Amino acid sequence: MVFTLLGSMGSYAASMASYPKGWENWPIVKESMNLPADTVLPADTSLFIQESVRAYSWINEGRGSPLTIRVNPEKLDQYKTHGPYTDGPTVVAVSEIQGIVWVTEHIGGMAIYGSYDRNGNDNTAMHPSLEPQFCENCHTTYKDICKNGTCAEPVLDTYKDK
Ligand code: HEC
Repeated sequence: MVFTLLGSMGSYAASMASYPKGWENWPIVKESMNLPADTVLPADTSLFIQESVRAYSWINEGRGSPLTIRVNPEKLDQYKTHGPYTDGPTVVAVSEIQGIVWVTEHIGGMAIYGSYDRNGNDNTAMHPSLEPQFCENCHTTYKDICKNGTCAEPVLDTYKDK
């Protein structure tokens, strides 16, 4: 079993971002997807998207999952412009089928990452791609797309009433 294996190697790092209680009620800014492992991407797909799809193709045993992105209501305006961000939990991406809650938090302008189950238990040990360092590598490498640690293009509907 994967849990025991990784645990006994003791090689995984725990979440750095804290679990934000009440995220279930945060406004949804985007409904997205963890794509299934057998997805054939168009030839002109950016390297960033290719890597993102590949990194999480193990989710739901390779069958993919809806991904819901919710933003801390106090940071909606900040998210719209990809920051700059004030301190505290900023945004979660929830892989719905397996209930994996990805958290991006900001401290002193810097983004930190974490992964939890829906009950707030750290589930970093589930897979190497859940380690904060792995999150950071992707979220900070692609600076043209990810700004201040956030990568999604928020859907404008959420902002219509504002
Ligand atoms: C290989 C690249 C890659 C890795 C690794 C990665 N992400 Fe992301 N992340 C993305 C992409 C691409 C999006 C935008 C998804 C969309 O718009 O559908 C995203 C979106 C997010 C969001 C939604 C908010 C936003 O706009 O950024 C959160 C929260 C998030 N990731 C947290 C994490 C956490 C926590 C980890 C590690 C457990 C992680 N990510 C690892 C590429 C990555």
